[in-house]
Amino acid sequence: MHLMTFIAVAQPNVFERGLVILAQGVFFNAFFVLYLFAPRTAHRLVGYFEEEAVVSYTAYLAEIDRGGAANPPAPEIAIRYWGLPVNARLRDVIVAVRADEAGHRDANHKFADALASARRTTRPSPAATTDGRLGGAQA
Ligand SMILES: [Fe+2]
Repeated sequence: MHLMTFIAVAQPNVFERGLVILAQGVFFNAFFVLYLFAPRTAHRLVGYFEEEAVVSYTAYLAEIDRGGAANPPAPEIAIRYWGLPVNARLRDVIVAVRADEAGHRDANHKFADALASARRTTRPSPAATTDGRLGGAQA
C-alpha cells in the first residue's frame, strides 16, 4: 500500500515506473535467494531497511514542518486504507506510513532474534562429543 500511495503522490512517468518494476524484480529475486539460505539475515536486513525508512520519514516530516516540502491533500487511496479524515494531508499519510514501518522493523528484528535463538538452542555445544556427551577433561 505504501508504494501505491506514493505513486498516487508522485505520479511517476512511464520510465520511472519501469525503473520501479525493474528494481522490484531485482530485489525480489535477490531477497528470495537470501531468504532460502539465510532467513535470519534476511529478516535482520529488512529490520534495518525498515529502521532506515522510519528515520527517512521522520526527516521528511521535519522538512514538511519547516516548509521545505509540500503538504498536499492526502490521496484518496491513503485516506481509505488508513481511515484518515477526508481533509487529511500528506503529513498525516507519512505519520501513518512511518508507524507501519516501525511495526515492520520490530517484527523483522523479532523474527531474526527468534531464528538466532532457535539456532543457539539446536546447535550442539563445541564441548559435546558426537554422541551428545560432554567431552573435555575427564574427572
Ligand atoms: Fe515496511
